[in-house]
Amino acid sequence: MGTKLDDRSTRRDRFHQKAKREGYLARSVYKLEEIDGKHAIFDGGHRVLDLGCAPGSWLQYAGEQIGERAKLVGLDRTPIQRPPAGARIVVGDVLTIDIAELLGDLPAFDVVLSDMAPDTTGVRQVDQARSETLFERALEIATLVLAPGGNFVGKLFQGPDFKKLTMAVRARFAVQKTAKPVSSRQISIEQYVIGKGFRGQAAGGAVSGAAPGTVPGGAPGGTPGGTR
Ligand SMILES: C[S@@+](CC[C@H](N)C(=O)[O-])C[C@H]1O[C@@H](n2cnc3c(N)ncnc32)[C@H](O)[C@@H]1O
Repeated sequence: MGTKLDDRSTRRDRFHQKAKREGYLARSVYKLEEIDGKHAIFDGGHRVLDLGCAPGSWLQYAGEQIGERAKLVGLDRTPIQRPPAGARIVVGDVLTIDIAELLGDLPAFDVVLSDMAPDTTGVRQVDQARSETLFERALEIATLVLAPGGNFVGKLFQGPDFKKLTMAVRARFAVQKTAKPVSSRQISIEQYVIGKGFRGQAAGGAVSGAAPGTVPGGAPGGTPGGTR
């Protein structure tokens, strides 16, 4: 008779095998697929910024959903071995990256994704705090680069500031939801916070109560815009 651990291993293996079979670079793709299936993350938008993009399965998925019009930019501190076709990859740390480098020649993005995970220590409070810092920074970047109406998905470990951070998303987007995809290990404290319909920069700049670092660069030309 199987134990809970066996069930988890089987599931982990199932998504891992499925990703290999279907040509995806990571099993994480099924988390985004489920979130997108429920929340239509790519509806109408074709410019996507993926923070913490390595090894690249979310970029693969975004490219497939959007098609030829896709403008994909990925950031990771680890170089990607096989960058998905057409994606521009920036290697750097999200906490210090220049916003202008992310934008390149784009005026704005329609979707900002963050699947960033901290180096975990096994000490819950430390890992939660690190995840919160990455999430806050992802939300800060989204606030600076999203066109009005744009969408956001960010990974966040559940911790003491979870409510405050979901409220920060709610203040900036017309709709805020959370998701725990089936392919996310049940033992994991990760959740995904979704914001749909960015209200624009007037809705807020820096994330309140958080100091993930300054925003070097800033969005050139002021408010991001452009057609979706
Ligand atoms: C779970 S993986 C992302 C998987 C990706 N969504 C995919 O489907 O291929 C998390 C990534 O976040 C990146 N990361 C963590 N902290 C970062 C930081 N401070 N700056 C940039 N990337 C970071 C890691 O290097 C790692 O590649």
